[in-house]
Amino acid sequence: MNVSKEHVNIIGHRGAAGLAPENTQISFEMASQSGIDGVEFDVQMTKDKKLVVIHDHDVKRITKEDGLVKDFTLTEIKKLDAGGYFSPEYKGQQILTLEETLDLVKDFNIINLEIKNGPVIYPEIEEKVIYVIKQFKLEDKIIISSFNHYTLNKIKQIEPDIKTGVLYMAGLYQPWEYINKIKAWSAHPYFAGVRPEIVRGCQKKGVNVIVFGVNDDHVIEKLIKMGVDGIITDFPDRAKDIRDKYLN
Ligand code: G3P
Ligand code: MG
Repeated sequence: MNVSKEHVNIIGHRGAAGLAPENTQISFEMASQSGIDGVEFDVQMTKDKKLVVIHDHDVKRITKEDGLVKDFTLTEIKKLDAGGYFSPEYKGQQILTLEETLDLVKDFNIINLEIKNGPVIYPEIEEKVIYVIKQFKLEDKIIISSFNHYTLNKIKQIEPDIKTGVLYMAGLYQPWEYINKIKAWSAHPYFAGVRPEIVRGCQKKGVNVIVFGVNDDHVIEKLIKMGVDGIITDFPDRAKDIRDKYLN
């Protein structure tokens, strides 16, 4: 993975959530067409313990149906329309399995797989995710991130070589101390709390900084100038243009 000051990695959030229905095939295809470095997506588990790629714990917002992801079987969840909420032209997009998703994104340099494990807890989701990653031989490219840091710790116990990323919203003091303690590869802070001394402090201690939640052009530019290692955004096409203009 090429992570350096000279190359701020642009990572599409839920594929390219600003351009297409999030976490769907069309979203990952659009991210790919943007020529960006990577994608981020969210993993949960169905009633019959299949890994699926969806952000919310319930299916309401993107399918207009009622129910929690954990209460659908894979066959049931596959019948839902996950594209029409975004635009009628994307009606019929399905909720993808992790396997289908990895097949679509395997050629990106960075694959950021976020495990959703709270407030709905999915027992043994860590083992299941690692099993699939190994089947695809993507151990080197994947960064597993989560807001549940017990999940990240468990991932390192099962597979010490897989990179983990610590997601957080709060203004952590000297985050590199904590992040190194749980042997994570990267900090994934919400953009609003990111300051130059945090970026420098992390990088000095070998922690990469991948910022999420940023869609405003001026803020994207500010973060690029700060020298963050990656930016996760709903509009990866725009972010790439800003980066390329600044770095060339
Ligand atoms: O991984 C970055 C970002 O996706 C974390 O927040 O809620 O969009 O999954 P969320
Ligand atoms: Mg996410």
